[in-house]
Amino acid sequence: MQHIDIIQPIADLYARPAYLEIGVCDGMTFHAVSATRKVAVDIEFRFDLDQARAAAGGQDVHFHAMPSDRFFEPDIIGDDRFDLIFIDGLHTFDQTLRDLLNAMNVLKPGGTIVVDDVLPSSYAASLPSYERSIALRQETGNRKNHWMGDVYRLVFFIRDYLPAWRYATVGSGPFHRLILWQSPRRLGPTRTVEQISRLSYGDVRLEIDAYDIRPLDAVLDDLRVHVAAHRPAGSSPERDGD
Ligand SMILES: C[S@@+](CC[C@H](N)C(=O)[O-])C[C@H]1O[C@@H](n2cnc3c(N)ncnc32)[C@H](O)[C@@H]1O
Repeated sequence: MQHIDIIQPIADLYARPAYLEIGVCDGMTFHAVSATRKVAVDIEFRFDLDQARAAAGGQDVHFHAMPSDRFFEPDIIGDDRFDLIFIDGLHTFDQTLRDLLNAMNVLKPGGTIVVDDVLPSSYAASLPSYERSIALRQETGNRKNHWMGDVYRLVFFIRDYLPAWRYATVGSGPFHRLILWQSPRRLGPTRTVEQISRLSYGDVRLEIDAYDIRPLDAVLDDLRVHVAAHRPAGSSPERDGD
């Protein structure tokens, strides 16, 4: 399952989806997404921006070559608000936490946030340092080239500190994405932030229930109800394709 197989069905829940992607790389997902408005942010796009802008023509598609922290500053983000935000930039706990909190501020009512790589596939993949992850893989003969960083700590932060947000995890193979939307739930057991920042790969595997891993269709059923509850009166329901 590619990112687009998760992102597009969510985008299609909105009549006129406004989509933001943090961390776009070569645009494999961003270029494939069909949405009314699309905004791309990357510290270093891996494609020619002039060509991409020309190809977008008169469409409502925008590219911001800058760190995500800068993009969320008031003079850039302005009043822009989004229905769906995909966070796939720097894969560390600190950065994804900042991206998430910033994303929550610019999400429209009824919006959805997706975060990539929340469940590391190995100890090496879970290291916050990309360089150390590679070095360890080489040392141990691990041929898998996955680096998911310590984004996994974000799941425990959300569970323990953000009870206004529901979430579920959708996975396929070694890749898992967290899907979250604003809806109150009961707060579970809480760790200190310091404890969360020290959680290890072993803790994750032993506390896998924290992820609420579910099939995409089951999560889409929940999102459909969530989106419908926030739909402005008189507006059309899900997209029928532009
Ligand atoms: C995993 S790739 C994104 C893949 C893309 N979302 C896709 O679906 O094909 C991560 C990207 O995040 C970008 N990135 C890293 N740190 C960033 C930051 N602080 N702000 C914005 N982008 C960042 C990198 O340049 C890289 O292109």
